[in-house]
Amino acid sequence: MAPLIYSAIASLDGYVADPGGNFDWAAPDDEVFAFLNDLERPIGTYLYGRRMYQTMVPWETMRTGEDQPAVLRDFTEIWRAADKIVYSRTLPAPSSARTRIERDLDPSAIRQLKESSAGEISIGGAELAGQAMAAGLVDECRLFLGPVLVGGGKRALPDDVRVRLELVDERRFSSGVVYLSYRLTGR
Ligand SMILES: NC(=O)c1ccc[n+]([C@@H]2O[C@H](COP(=O)([O-])OP(=O)(O)OC[C@H]3O[C@@H](n4cnc5c(N)ncnc54)[C@H](OP(=O)(O)O)[C@@H]3O)[C@@H](O)[C@H]2O)c1
Repeated sequence: MAPLIYSAIASLDGYVADPGGNFDWAAPDDEVFAFLNDLERPIGTYLYGRRMYQTMVPWETMRTGEDQPAVLRDFTEIWRAADKIVYSRTLPAPSSARTRIERDLDPSAIRQLKESSAGEISIGGAELAGQAMAAGLVDECRLFLGPVLVGGGKRALPDDVRVRLELVDERRFSSGVVYLSYRLTGR
């Protein structure tokens, strides 16, 4: 069965966007980006909340010339090769290939997808992923915590969800970013 993985790059105080909606402070440097690419390579399907999709869809048309950094070109290929499902009640149509829209997060459909997927499945933004966590659908949570406090904004992890976690991997990077990967083991 394919795992459902929530990944986020967050501030040390646990936000994916600050009170002004900015997340430029979360941009990975080449070292983190290369590590991220290796984590993303096995992903066959991305499940996106509409807001996260809108921040990711520029990868569909990103220039991939030799003048671009290798980590960007690598990620572009990984992203374009994967299927995407966008959850939205307002988006009329997707603007990338291999993409369909779902109007509801149906836990049984996601369980079925996990049963039938050859590749891993990723879920993001925080709002959509929080619902999937509350429904007991998420198997692994991967956090990149950056050396910054932003004091508020959009929380990476949901309120009102109680779950036990097992630390399965960790890494530190020269920028001060720390990677923590947890398996969700039950309530
Ligand atoms: N830290 C970083 O590296 C980083 C990177 C990228 C983005 N970000 C930030 O992270 C934020 C992530 O977004 P988010 O957590 O606010 O939202 P999100 O989960 O990406 O998207 C929320 C939207 O998804 C749709 N949705 C949610 N639940 C649904 C359901 N059950 N059924 C159908 N549709 C559903 C709704 O879209 P509709 O309103 O269309 O119905 C909802 O408004 C972005 O806004 C951006 O600011 C951070």
